[in-house]
Amino acid sequence: MCGIVGYVGSKQALSVVVDGLRRLEYRGYDSAGVAVVSENKLKVRKKAGKLTKLESLLGDDPLPSSTCAIGHTRWATHGIPNDINAHPHLDQDQKFAVIHNGIIENFAQLRAELEATGTNLASDTDTEVVAHLLASEYPKTKSLTKAMQQVVSRLRGAFTLVAISSEEPDLLVGARRNSPLVVGRGIGENFLASDVSAFISHTKSAIELGQDQIVELTSESIKIINFDGSDALFKEYEIDWDISAAEKGGYELFMLKEIAEQPQAVRDTLAGRINEKGILNFSDFQISDETIKEIKKVVFIACGTAFHAGLIGKYAVERWTRLPSEAEIASEFRYRDPILDKESLVVAISQSGETMDTLMAVKHAKEQGAKVLAITNTQGSTLGREADAVLYTRAGPEVAVASTKAFLTQVVAVELLALYLAQVKAVTQTSEIKKVLEDILDMSHAIDVVLDTMPQVKEIAEKYKSAKSILFIGRQAGYPVALEGALKLKELAYMHAEGFAAGELKHGPIALIEAGSPVIVIVPSLEHDPILHEKIISNIQEVKARGASVVALAEAGDEVVSLYADQVIRLPKVPSLLQPLVATVPLQVFAAQLAKVKGHDVDQPRNLAKSVTVE
Ligand code: F6R
Repeated sequence: MCGIVGYVGSKQALSVVVDGLRRLEYRGYDSAGVAVVSENKLKVRKKAGKLTKLESLLGDDPLPSSTCAIGHTRWATHGIPNDINAHPHLDQDQKFAVIHNGIIENFAQLRAELEATGTNLASDTDTEVVAHLLASEYPKTKSLTKAMQQVVSRLRGAFTLVAISSEEPDLLVGARRNSPLVVGRGIGENFLASDVSAFISHTKSAIELGQDQIVELTSESIKIINFDGSDALFKEYEIDWDISAAEKGGYELFMLKEIAEQPQAVRDTLAGRINEKGILNFSDFQISDETIKEIKKVVFIACGTAFHAGLIGKYAVERWTRLPSEAEIASEFRYRDPILDKESLVVAISQSGETMDTLMAVKHAKEQGAKVLAITNTQGSTLGREADAVLYTRAGPEVAVASTKAFLTQVVAVELLALYLAQVKAVTQTSEIKKVLEDILDMSHAIDVVLDTMPQVKEIAEKYKSAKSILFIGRQAGYPVALEGALKLKELAYMHAEGFAAGELKHGPIALIEAGSPVIVIVPSLEHDPILHEKIISNIQEVKARGASVVALAEAGDEVVSLYADQVIRLPKVPSLLQPLVATVPLQVFAAQLAKVKGHDVDQPRNLAKSVTVE
C-alpha cells in the first residue's frame, strides 16, 4: 500500500526512481510523484492517476539531472487522489520533500498545531505535516537525520518515511515503523524502497530495516540507528531471485504469467522439504519438537485469499493431527477475545508479510502467550520478524494485485505444516503421511494438466460476460475454493459473486437463482469422496430445477456429473484435501478472462493495492 523508492548515487537518479516506481506500482496507483535535488533546489513533479500520467508530465515538463531522488506511488487514505494530495509533500520554503507509506494517526492534532503557528498546509494528507515538522526541527541541529529523529518521536501510527532536502543535497533519510523499508547496497550508489523489486536490477545486496529504525544514505555510506539514536541491529541478505522474475517475460499480463508459474512455485515450495525416505524435513522450522508435542490447538489467521488458504489448513490439521483447529479472518480475530494460551499455535498467513490486520492479530495472539508461526512469501517482512518461526512459501515475486501463485504455495505450506505436526506428534501412520507427501509431490504436474484447460475456461467465461451475478459452491476443501473463485471475480471483473458451502444453499441463497443464473460447482472427487459427491450432485439438481446454468469443475472420469451440469471443466484425479491446488486454477483464469473482456485493468484492479498496510 503505497510504494516508496529513493536513490543516491552517480546514475541519473530520476530514471532509477521512475523505473523503481514501475515495479512498485502494484502497491497503489491513485497517483505518482517524484522529487529531485538539483543545484541545491528541490524540484517536484506529481500527478493523479497511474504512473504513465506522471511519465507524460515528465516528458512535457522535464526535471533537471540529479544524483539524489525520491518517488512515490499512492494508495489514497487521507485526501482524494488528486495532484495536490500526491506525494512528495514539501514544507513552505520547499527545502524538505517527504514520501510516506502508512497512516499518521495524530496528524489532525499536529496539523492544528502547525496551523496555529501560521503554517499553510497545501494538501489534505496526513503526510504533509512531516515536511513542515522537518523544516521546523532542522535549524536546531542542521542535520536531516536528527530532524527526522525528532519528528518521528512526535508521530503515532504507521509511518515509513523517506525525506530529502536541498540543505543536504546528497543525503537520503528513511524511517521505518510498521510498513516495510529495505535498503539496497550498491557500489557508489545506495537505494531505499518498499520492496527489493525496485532496485534488484542494480543490486542484489539488501538490508532489512527493523522496526523503529532510521537510515541515512549517501552514495558511499549507510548508517542505521534506532529512533532513540542508539546503534541499531539489522540484517543483511542476498536477494535470491533476479529481475526476470519481476518482469512479464513475454506474457500480456503479470497475472497470466503468475498463473502459468504455479507448477514451478509449488515445486519450489516443496524443494528440500521432503527427504528421500518420504519424511518431512523442515530444517528451516524454528519450533522444537518438544514445543510441537505440547500444542493442543491450531488457529489460522489471515485476510482475503490467504484466509482461504487458512481454511484449507484447518481441514488439513483436523484430518491429520486430530487437533482442534480454527481459521479466522485477522481483522475480526484482532478485536475478539480468542481463547489462546501457550499450548496454542497461531499460524499467520500472508503473501506480503505486511498486511496490517494480520500483524495486529499476531500481536493479539502473542499477548495471550500463543506461539506464532508465519507463512509468508516475503523475506525480511514484518510478519517474519514478529513471528516465533517462519515457513517461507517460495512463489517468487507476485506482481499482479490478485493473488494466484502465492495462494497455491500457501495451500502447499499449510498441508505440509499439518503433516509435519502429525509426524512429530506421531498421530498419523507414517505410511499415510508418506502417501500424502507422494501425492503432494505430484501436484505440480497435476497443475500443469489443468493449465491445458485454459482455452475452454476462457470460452466459458465469455459466455457469462453479461451475467448479473455468479454463484460458486463447494463442499469441504471445495468450499474455500468457491470463496476464492468468487473473490477473484469480484476484484477483477467487478461482478457480483458469492461463494457458498453447497449445503447452505437451501438455507437461503437458493432464492437468488433464476432462469440462466450461472452457478459454478466445485465437485468433490467421486473416487475419494463418494458421499460428498452424491450430495453435491443433489445440490446441482436443486439449482438446475430452478433454472441455473451449471459449470462443474470435476475430476477426469466423473461421468455422473456430465449428466447434470451444462458444462464440465475437467480436473486431474487428486485426493480431496489437495483438490484446491487444481480446482482454483480455472477460476483464476475465468476471472482474468472476464475482466479482460470487460476491458478492465487485470493486473491493477480499481480501488485495490497489493499490500494492505493499513487497518
Ligand atoms: C486477493 C488478494 C487479497 C490478499 C489479502 C492478504 O486476490 O490478493 O485478498 O490475499 O489482502 O494479503 P497478504 O497475503 O499479503 O497478507
